[in-house]
Amino acid sequence: MRTFQYRYGVLGPSRLAARHAEPSMIASADDEARPSPRLLALARDAAAAAEAIALEHLDERLPPGERWHRVWPGEHYRLLAGLVEVLRPTAVLEIGTATGLSALALLARLGADARLVTFDLVSWREYPGTVLREEDFEDGRLTQELDDLSAGPAAEKHRALLESADLIFVDAAKDGRQERAFLDRFERTSFRGDPVVVFDDIRQWKMLRTWREVARPKLDLTSFGHWSGTGLVDYAPAAGQT
Ligand SMILES: C[S@@+](CC[C@H](N)C(=O)[O-])C[C@H]1O[C@@H](n2cnc3c(N)ncnc32)[C@H](O)[C@@H]1O
Repeated sequence: MRTFQYRYGVLGPSRLAARHAEPSMIASADDEARPSPRLLALARDAAAAAEAIALEHLDERLPPGERWHRVWPGEHYRLLAGLVEVLRPTAVLEIGTATGLSALALLARLGADARLVTFDLVSWREYPGTVLREEDFEDGRLTQELDDLSAGPAAEKHRALLESADLIFVDAAKDGRQERAFLDRFERTSFRGDPVVVFDDIRQWKMLRTWREVARPKLDLTSFGHWSGTGLVDYAPAAGQT
């Protein structure tokens, strides 16, 4: 009976041995937005860069035995550093600081004159298990803002910053609602450059439809990023548009 139920999709695979598993869904790729040549080149180059970026300087930030920043592919930290290395952004925005591990990964290859602004609703100083230290903020490249950019007033407050972004990493609620608000916000933003937006967890159940409905050039880069899904979206104007 259970084999029958599994075969017809009523049950998940009962013998899937994994540290962490969640249901997801697969869908055809030919009938959704396709990647731009720029995204394909960026993905290829950032993955190659990630392979050579070990982030070993972050080992001492985590408890012994925890090496999430080194796991690649499978986690997104080295890919984030690779994206910064290839894109050479001057303004990076992160939505979702949490412990700060992804902020440190983004910072690892950020230029001396560039800046990373990481947003959360909880101060890094109060976040359980934070890996950030005061010294990370000393050279002025990294700052944290405690605002919800999915809400109009906060987005208006940080409009100039948002417009200047070259790379945006969205890793916040993943509740199927907030990411739509971010997407709407980005559509209403007059970006000065051609930013690339990275969405985490695009293969999580609540993110499937949001990701599917992204109509801009996009690429699912999960195999070189986070096992729960890593997606890139190109905000450069389409050819022929200004
Ligand atoms: C999955 S964690 C981020 C993990 C982190 N980027 C990393 O990879 O190390 C999600 C974080 O998003 C924050 N968050 C939730 N809603 C948010 C919002 N609207 N704006 C900014 N941060 C938000 C949560 O407080 C939480 O710290």
